[in-house]
Amino acid sequence: MPNNVTVIVLAAGGGTRMRSKTMKVLHEVGGRSMVGHVLTAVRAVEPQRIVAVVGTQRDQVGPHIRAFAPDVVLAVQDVLDGTAGAVRVAVSEMAPTGTVVVVTGDTPLLEGESLKAFAAEHEAAERAVSILSGVVGNPTGYGRIVRDDEGDVEAIVEEKDATPQQRDIREISSGILAFDAEFLLDALPRIGNDNAKGEFYLTDTVRLARDAGLTIGAYPIDDVMQTEGANDRVQLAELGREMNRRIVTRWMRDGVTVMDPATTWIDADVRLEPDVTILPGTQLLGATVVAEDAVIGPDTTLKDCEIGVGARVVRTHGELAVIGARATVGPFSYLRPGTLLGAGGKIGAFVEVKNSTIADGAKVPHLSYVGDGDIGPGANIGAGTIFANYDGTTKHRTTVGKGAKTGANNTFVAPVSIGEGAMTGGGTVVRKDVPPGALAVSAATQRNLEGYVERRTVRDADPGDEFPAAGGGES
Ligand code: UD1
Ligand code: CA
Repeated sequence: MPNNVTVIVLAAGGGTRMRSKTMKVLHEVGGRSMVGHVLTAVRAVEPQRIVAVVGTQRDQVGPHIRAFAPDVVLAVQDVLDGTAGAVRVAVSEMAPTGTVVVVTGDTPLLEGESLKAFAAEHEAAERAVSILSGVVGNPTGYGRIVRDDEGDVEAIVEEKDATPQQRDIREISSGILAFDAEFLLDALPRIGNDNAKGEFYLTDTVRLARDAGLTIGAYPIDDVMQTEGANDRVQLAELGREMNRRIVTRWMRDGVTVMDPATTWIDADVRLEPDVTILPGTQLLGATVVAEDAVIGPDTTLKDCEIGVGARVVRTHGELAVIGARATVGPFSYLRPGTLLGAGGKIGAFVEVKNSTIADGAKVPHLSYVGDGDIGPGANIGAGTIFANYDGTTKHRTTVGKGAKTGANNTFVAPVSIGEGAMTGGGTVVRKDVPPGALAVSAATQRNLEGYVERRTVRDADPGDEFPAAGGGES
């Protein structure tokens, strides 16, 4: 492998066609910015240094790149005068030797292995310049690779400067180039801007190399989508779908069952174990991790979640939640940040959980809100229970001890604790701690008004009759 490679990532253009306050290279596909994908791919060539050229809205792009890859050197291009101008700024930050690989910041499908093969081939052929080229159906907008009668590369001609015959050439430059550093440093100052765009074209290096009798080559990539950039939101969506198709395909090859790849979305940083099953309409986002034999979906969105071995998550929306082995979640559950469900536990239908621990084997089966709670192992929370964690000013915690069984329609007014093995009656509002093993009841004693219904029927038949309203208190 080449051992002295400098990678220059061009990311100074504004991307006006995005019509966005967000810089083009920061737009995301597969849960990662486009420039993030490029910065990940370039690692494959094991570069000695990576320089990113930023310009327009550098306040946005610079910090993003710093956070994503702290070792990247930032170079600022004040005037966007072309790709050669950008590379000039980059090399002024350091004096590269060996090989310089230039990539653009908006090609999210570019794979490290392709770049590695390209750089290796460039070095093996000892060329002054190599071009990662591609043969495309529609070459509009790209620089065309012009070859002589022997098939040797003569020049790259930009669309706006091309003759009608040259425009018919379907071999294009991806904009990804490799240089012998010594040649590049010599060529850059000699590039002019006498062209249709009035810009300094990096692609003019090819003609300079040719004039000097140096070796030039184009390395055609089979998978041209890897070199495609997103200039507007339509292309962004196309690349996003293609990236997803590739990610989902890779996971299927690695042993994940995906029932419907077309409605399954998996971000680039998600990790799945073999024998995971994903049902239709599922989005696995961010840094979500799913362990073997878990079944996710249908219609589930999990962002930054960790799902244990053999767990089952049905029609659920979750973020920053950890679900234990063989636990079950859903349908229609809402897992908010800080949800921790233990092994074999259950979060059932229409249950919302936030910042709470539900220990091994504990269950919250139906229609409940668990906020800031700690539920002990094997405890069972009755249907329709509210953990009232907020007193209007501060959030407080509720503790439910091991093996406790609470009744339906309870309210736990935090801070409060229910002891180990304790019980509560239906409709209890727990405002005071419940000792271990005790039964807490707070609902008023029930009264039955004998014969009420019959008397009410008589009243309805005779509107003049006065009767107390049902539930109207003491009569
Ligand atoms: C460029 C290539 C073209 C190639 C195409 C592939 C040149 C002259 N042309 O054309 O041969 O087919 O890419 O997509 O190189 N940038 C800067 N500073 C600048 C200008 C551009 O950093 O002053 C960056 C842009 O942010 C972008 C990249 O360089 O990431 C390419 O620039 P762009 O203007 O899109 O070039 P194209 O016209 O597409
Ligand atoms: Ca472009």
